Amino acid sequence: MSTLFAESDTEELVARARAHQTPNYRQPPIMLTRGEGMWVWDRDGRRYLDMFAGIAVNALGHAHPRLVAAIRDQADKLCHVSNIFFHEPGLALMDELVARSFGDRVFFTNSGTEANEAALKIARRFQTVVRGQGERTDFLTFEHGFHGRSFASLTATAQPKYHEGFRPLLPGFHYAPYGDLEAAGAAMEAIGDRLAAVLVEPVQGEGGVRVPPKGYLSGLRKLCDAHGALLMLDEVQTGVGRTGEWFAYEIDGVRPDVMSLAKGIGGGVPLGAMVCTEEVGQAFVPGTHASTFGGNPLATRVGLEVMRTIAEEGLLDHVYEAGEHLGRGLAALCAARPEVCVETRGYGLLRALELGGDDPELPARVVERARERGFLLNVVVGNTLRFAPAFIVQRGHIDATLEMLDEVLGEATA
Ligand SMILES: Cc1ncc(COP(=O)(O)O)c(C=O)c1O
Repeated sequence: MSTLFAESDTEELVARARAHQTPNYRQPPIMLTRGEGMWVWDRDGRRYLDMFAGIAVNALGHAHPRLVAAIRDQADKLCHVSNIFFHEPGLALMDELVARSFGDRVFFTNSGTEANEAALKIARRFQTVVRGQGERTDFLTFEHGFHGRSFASLTATAQPKYHEGFRPLLPGFHYAPYGDLEAAGAAMEAIGDRLAAVLVEPVQGEGGVRVPPKGYLSGLRKLCDAHGALLMLDEVQTGVGRTGEWFAYEIDGVRPDVMSLAKGIGGGVPLGAMVCTEEVGQAFVPGTHASTFGGNPLATRVGLEVMRTIAEEGLLDHVYEAGEHLGRGLAALCAARPEVCVETRGYGLLRALELGGDDPELPARVVERARERGFLLNVVVGNTLRFAPAFIVQRGHIDATLEMLDEVLGEATA
């Protein structure tokens, strides 16, 4: 039972929460109170298997003992000092990121949006000030991509539905179809010497877990080099192990100039990072960019513990194997139920099952029925179930989810 509202029933609390918050979220009528590993509990004692980990955030699951201990220990010592001072957790996490990625320099943020904001700002300043090419102010991003909700990251998000009501957007952004190197090349040609950088997700997460053809990122790398543009990867959803590699760019063997991270790196606390090369990093000199909270001792200590746990417990191999198992299971389900399943896509533990058929309410109903059976599922782009469980997911959890889905899809079409 909740300790904050012991006297109230959930229905009343849900009604109050709905009345108080701005109505931009659509929550189910439950209130979650605690979690452990792959499981969360609501205030009425019901247990759910969490198959999307707070949208690819809780990389180590809920209340992981190592994270809990790190939070306790760090909270006891130092939570925040501002970036006016160095601190050990920040240094240790930068060491870890630099050792495991292409990057030499790190700027910490609190979210993916802010990491992308930092990436866009550093790219423009690098091109116009450091390289002295004053005209190079523009960006190329990709249809169905998602980069966040601030004005710059929203403008970078080439999905008109998110732009409604927020125009005018920022000037200097251009869009091309995703996964199509020829189209990207033509767009870069058209932008010409104004192109500062290309910002792209290695796998489009919010766009429906879209995996580009093999060689796409390395093709973009070549195009960027030919056009004097930076290659910036938005690894907010894919980074820090979700694909079975530390970073998804490793799959294609490319070296970006800039990468944005968030979600999984914080394991549940707000933490993001913009990671870049030595050369690009020089564009952020004192006074050019900053964040009050970004990379405080508490958040970076947790980020460090997330990365160390992934490394020490061999979780990358596990993510790959569990992801393959989930992928095979979804493919079998898709083949068995062609009347409602269109296709399955994904990589590692970022997977999708696209639903079809003639009932547009089906995905929402599947999520609701799954919840009634004790499973938390997530829908993206209206018709696609997205699976992004914690890296500690076991075959048993995956098999139980697949079995439940088969049942629920069967009922939905009966
Ligand atoms: C690829 C990608 N970039 C950026 C963001 C924005 O991150 P945040 O919500 O932490 O600001 C998201 C969030 O879903 C994302 O998936």
